[in-house]
Amino acid sequence: PHAMTRRTAGQDPLTVAHRGYSAVAPENTLAAVEAGVRAGAEYVEIDARTTADGVPVLMHDSTVDRTTNGSGVVAELDAAYVTGLDAGSWFSPAFAAQRVPTLAQALDVLAESGSGVLLEVKGPQPRAGSRAIVSAVLEHDLADRVLVQSFDERVLRDARELAPELPIGVLRSTMDADPVAAARAFGAVAYNPSAATLRPGAVGELTAAGVSVMPYTVDEPEHWQALADLGVDAIITNRAGEHADWRADR
Ligand code: G3P
Ligand code: CA
Repeated sequence: PHAMTRRTAGQDPLTVAHRGYSAVAPENTLAAVEAGVRAGAEYVEIDARTTADGVPVLMHDSTVDRTTNGSGVVAELDAAYVTGLDAGSWFSPAFAAQRVPTLAQALDVLAESGSGVLLEVKGPQPRAGSRAIVSAVLEHDLADRVLVQSFDERVLRDARELAPELPIGVLRSTMDADPVAAARAFGAVAYNPSAATLRPGAVGELTAAGVSVMPYTVDEPEHWQALADLGVDAIITNRAGEHADWRADR
């Protein structure tokens, strides 16, 4: 398994800042990434997709509509337009200066910080898009502290072919009947399910097979405790600061 995604015996699950520390800053902006690092998250999760001219940028949705002052489908817009949009005002006027970062800009910050990177590649993605995204990771010398995850099976296969040295995580909104087999099918070191569909018995099966388990998205301490008791390796949370403090107080 990927060393960083494993908690050691007796340790609480690692903190993964979902879309950055998105409870306190607009998701998938440099402000949110930096806040996740400052909060002490072992990983910062970001969502990458590519523009019409092939530039990887951070954006969760397929369109820019919800989180910027623009409109349109990211895959049909040029990077010059997308990266000029205000990506902070929807969250708070205090973040009006935030722009849509390129993946390269976010990786600059994360490489400098020493934090791990949980890089979700949003599908569908042409092979050239996956190539641009994995190339950005390789250019930042992050292979030993990144985990590339996707719901999209073609993205997982392309990433593995393009950069076999990068660890892969399988994302699932519903758990497979045999999650170990699903992880193995992609050569994955992590299996990251929606917490709502997590079967308690599956955590032990995956752990025994050497596959890390990182459920998403969990924001309440009672739920953190239940998942810690089950033995998951990391918690993907919008409340990275609260999760890190909760661990420190125990
Ligand atoms: O990291 C897993 C989680 O981010 C997947 O769901 O929709 O928030 O990207 P979503
Ligand atoms: Ca995500």
